[in-house]
Amino acid sequence: TPAPSTATRAFSLSEAMASVAKGKRAAAFKAIDDHIKDGDRIGIGSGSTIVFAVERLAERVKNEKLSVRCVPTSFQAKELIISNGLVLSNLETDHVLDIAIDGADEVDKDLNLIKGGGGCQTQEKIVAFAAKKFIVIADDSKKSEYLGEKWKTGLPIEVLQIAHKVVKAKIESSLEGTADLRIAQKKAGPVVTDNGNLILDWKFDAARDKDWSQVNGLLKAIPGVVETGLFVGMTSCVYFGSPNGEILTI
Ligand code: 5RP
Repeated sequence: TPAPSTATRAFSLSEAMASVAKGKRAAAFKAIDDHIKDGDRIGIGSGSTIVFAVERLAERVKNEKLSVRCVPTSFQAKELIISNGLVLSNLETDHVLDIAIDGADEVDKDLNLIKGGGGCQTQEKIVAFAAKKFIVIADDSKKSEYLGEKWKTGLPIEVLQIAHKVVKAKIESSLEGTADLRIAQKKAGPVVTDNGNLILDWKFDAARDKDWSQVNGLLKAIPGVVETGLFVGMTSCVYFGSPNGEILTI
């Protein structure tokens, strides 16, 4: 059989992306409908799935005349809150949040997460920590048995600029795998986070029996590490959306 043409491949790719987006949208809408109530102080995550959640939140605020305040986890989240006409707050004004909602790059069976595909994990973790409940929304491709089973890009670790080579060397000598500086698209230079730091993506050997709490502790103990994208024992509930709009909640 002849190889598919470039046009056919591009069409299939855009169909696949549209299916994933349907799953993200379904999960986001359901989570907002199930959890948001009048008066809530809400942490708003980062990424593409949260865009659907903010869209639904703005609809509900308008239709039901809800009074809510939103705390962003990134520059993107701040812009999203403002452009949807929602009330922008911060952790100075609202250091206790009723709820935080965010996406994830991978979710294991114990609801541990890898986050930071967009480089926002530090603010995302602080906001999730400040919240009474932390709700994760994702398309169902993010669901895995154990971390690293599907997410092959590595665990994002935010590091101070001065420390990136020191941290890389320590991780590679005392843990395993490689820790690569994240480079911006078109290789213009390293990705710089909203906090002015760099990101190492640590590619580890995926295994079922890893103690992620211990791994997180080891990484955080290296001077220069600001935060990791490991969210261990923080998640209250996850909504996975499938391309046909079905939702799995765990
Ligand atoms: C950004 C994140 C995102 O929440 C994560 O990458 C998921 O993104 P998306 O909703 O686009 O799949 O952690 O730092």
